[in-house]
Amino acid sequence: MANDREEMLMTWLRDAHAMEEQAEQMLSTTAERIEHYPSFKQKLEAHLRETQRQRDVIRACIERRGGDTSTIKDLAGKMMAMGQGLSGLFVADEVVKAAMASYTFEHFEIASYRSLIAAAEAVGDVETARVCREILVEEEAMAAWMAAELPTITSQYLQRLAMDVEAKH
Ligand SMILES: [Fe+2]
Repeated sequence: MANDREEMLMTWLRDAHAMEEQAEQMLSTTAERIEHYPSFKQKLEAHLRETQRQRDVIRACIERRGGDTSTIKDLAGKMMAMGQGLSGLFVADEVVKAAMASYTFEHFEIASYRSLIAAAEAVGDVETARVCREILVEEEAMAAWMAAELPTITSQYLQRLAMDVEAKH
C-alpha cells in the first residue's frame, strides 16, 4: 500500500537524519582528540563537513515530504554518540579503536543509504533517491579510505609505542 510505503520512507529518513547527527558528534569528538595522526585527523574533519551537509540534505527531504525532524529519537542518537565518543577516551589504543569505529560506522551508513534509495524509488520520490545516491558516493569514499588506512594507522600506533612516545591519540 502506498501509504505504508510512504510511512516507512519517512521513518527511514528520520533514522538517517539521527544517524548523521550521531556521525557528526563522533567525527568531531574524535577529530578534536587526535594529535599524532594528522592524515586521519584531516580526513575526519573533511568527512565532518560532508556529514553536516548530508544531515541538512536529509532534513530537506523530510521537510519536502511534510515531516519534521524534532524527534526524541534524534536526541537518543546524540546521547548514544556522546557515550560512544567518551567510551574510547580511556583506552590505550584509542586511535586504533577510533579507526575501527569509523570503518564500521561508514559501512552502516552505506547499508542505510542503499536501503533508502530503494524505498525512495518505491514511492517514486526521484529527488530523495538522487540525493541519497550522492551521499552514498561520499560514504563509500570514506569507507574505502578507512579500509586502506586502518592498517597504516595501526602500524603507526605500534611504531610510536615501540619508540616510547605518546601513541594513544
Ligand atoms: Fe554520513
